[in-house]
Amino acid sequence: MNLTDHERAQALRTGMGTENVGSVLEALVKMTRPTQLLEIGAGYTTLCMLSALSDVAAELHRDAQIVQGQIDDPERQSLLIPRVALTPYHPSLTVFEDFSVQPSAADRVVDIAQAKGWDAYLNFVSENFFDDGPRILADLTAAVDVAWLDAGDPIEDIRFVNTLLPYMASDSWILMHEPTLTIPVQLADGTTAVRPVTVPVVRQLIRSTYDQDDGSRIEFVVMPEVHKVRQGGLLVIHKLSGPEVLQPVFDSMDSEVKALQRLLRTQDTGDDLSTLKF
Ligand SMILES: C[S@@+](CC[C@H](N)C(=O)[O-])C[C@H]1O[C@@H](n2cnc3c(N)ncnc32)[C@H](O)[C@@H]1O
Repeated sequence: MNLTDHERAQALRTGMGTENVGSVLEALVKMTRPTQLLEIGAGYTTLCMLSALSDVAAELHRDAQIVQGQIDDPERQSLLIPRVALTPYHPSLTVFEDFSVQPSAADRVVDIAQAKGWDAYLNFVSENFFDDGPRILADLTAAVDVAWLDAGDPIEDIRFVNTLLPYMASDSWILMHEPTLTIPVQLADGTTAVRPVTVPVVRQLIRSTYDQDDGSRIEFVVMPEVHKVRQGGLLVIHKLSGPEVLQPVFDSMDSEVKALQRLLRTQDTGDDLSTLKF
């Protein structure tokens, strides 16, 4: 995280509850390096993702120099996939924010992004997502790799996901705030107690993915924040589409994979990795 304490204090609203989710999003961006990101509901998390994109750009710059022999760092080099290190990376984060909820830190996000030099990654749309969102998504140059939904109640979340799905990349991530709500529920013995319950959109999503017959797979993780009654936790949906994800074609290994195998064989593992499957 490259925000100063002052910027962090300006962007992070305690009531929005994204202090931990922001770190998860930051790590996800650094790990999966999405090209097209989408956020509905701006604030601290916008800056977490922009910061991650800027870190990736710096990391890529150094990695490319390592791969090209301009920087001597054999330990790092031993980890890198040369093609990835040498591929230009031009990510973009499209953010929808209609300023319907106040007070909000959303209005400071653009200013802070500009001050940090991160605005080149930012496509800030000051509109209700449902007004023009589908047309804007259709015009993007790439399908959405990571979508972070932090704008609605569970009913709106259903609408967000239904509207979004046609624009998601085949291998992509949808993350949603508050997969559980802590509310009064009736227990089996007829008494009432306050308990966390899974919100309807999550139940619906999990149910609807049991009958995929095209080889695609969807993984779900609910990460709770056990100390909060609201604005807590994260639902992570990982969509892996297509049989090719599950059944790689081993006999068409390209030179890069073979080079990686050679590299691995040179490590002193004692294993013959010539049959390594990717
Ligand atoms: C929970 S806050 C976002 C918090 C932010 N992610 C953070 O880390 O601080 C939700 C925001 O979504 C905006 N919003 C609500 N419904 C929206 C919609 N349909 N389209 C665009 N923005 C919306 C609200 O104005 C509000 O600023």
